[in-house]
Amino acid sequence: MPTETVYGLAADADNDAAVAQIFAAKGRPADHPLIVHLADATAVGHYAGAVPDFARALMAAFWPGPLTLILPRRPGVADAAAGGNPTVGLRCPAHPVAQALLQACAARGVWGLAAPSANQFGRVSPTTAAHVQGEFGDDLLILDGGPCSVGIESSIIDCTRGQPVLLRPGAITPEQMQAACGLKVLRNNELPALSDQGPKASGTLESHYAPQARVRLMDAAALRAALPSAPASVAVWARDGVPLPERSARYRRMPASAEIAAQQLFAILRELDALGVADIWVHTPPDTPDWLGVRDRLQRAAF
Ligand code: TXA
Ligand code: MG
Repeated sequence: MPTETVYGLAADADNDAAVAQIFAAKGRPADHPLIVHLADATAVGHYAGAVPDFARALMAAFWPGPLTLILPRRPGVADAAAGGNPTVGLRCPAHPVAQALLQACAARGVWGLAAPSANQFGRVSPTTAAHVQGEFGDDLLILDGGPCSVGIESSIIDCTRGQPVLLRPGAITPEQMQAACGLKVLRNNELPALSDQGPKASGTLESHYAPQARVRLMDAAALRAALPSAPASVAVWARDGVPLPERSARYRRMPASAEIAAQQLFAILRELDALGVADIWVHTPPDTPDWLGVRDRLQRAAF
């Protein structure tokens, strides 16, 4: 299914046998929980127990949209999707095709669709139907909703610790979430007690979103110095300020806008990877809140 962030591989979240096929197709460890997608917030009560006020405020502000909330799970629902965790991740996507699918499911008594990104475990997330086909072949029904408008996965907020904790940065910034719910959004590593307990998100593994080629983050000065003698096995994605040597498929411009760079990020990594290069040199994104999600994905791709 298409969503505004990335394509997802979907199954009825309450059907453990169907959900098991998602884990098998992705090669994903069974204890890595999946996000459950809902048509709207009325389905939250089917999956989640206590929902704190700040989580309600975040839903009101950002749903439908690229925000996933981790909430206490009601016992006995979505066991396989939650990977046995006592919590469940819920998100209401904004993409019109996802919305139509989820509403059609709801009309047939299906409360939600468990859907991880439609890629093999640890690889780059798909942002077009063609990417999904490249991951799984023709043996799959793909709803083609066009290229994803956001391009990186949803922001994930853990709502089970009394205060919002950011597990995975996305297009919605912590600042925007703070403004909407009135509470500071903590980083996963900000409280010492949090770093080794609580939910683990595979999107938070240090190495993830990795293409075949080695990804290396470089600042403008390092790129300018290294480019004149760059071997043919190197591809480059750099913003203005770094003169690119020649017009070639190996040299691509990173947009100045974080929003547009996010849209292009995974497609660019796939395209450069498909050239068979050994290394991809990527201009380090600016250290500003709008680039948090893109910077995070690139750091994991480069790890
Ligand atoms: O934008 C997105 O979130 C996309 C689209 C398809 O909706 N989905 C996505 O799913 O990125 P996936 O499975 O690739 O990443 C979901 C992340 C994983 O890192 C998983 O560990 C985490 O969410 N997650 C899901 N349920 C969780 C839970 N109960 N507790 C902690 N982390 C959870
Ligand atoms: Mg994923």
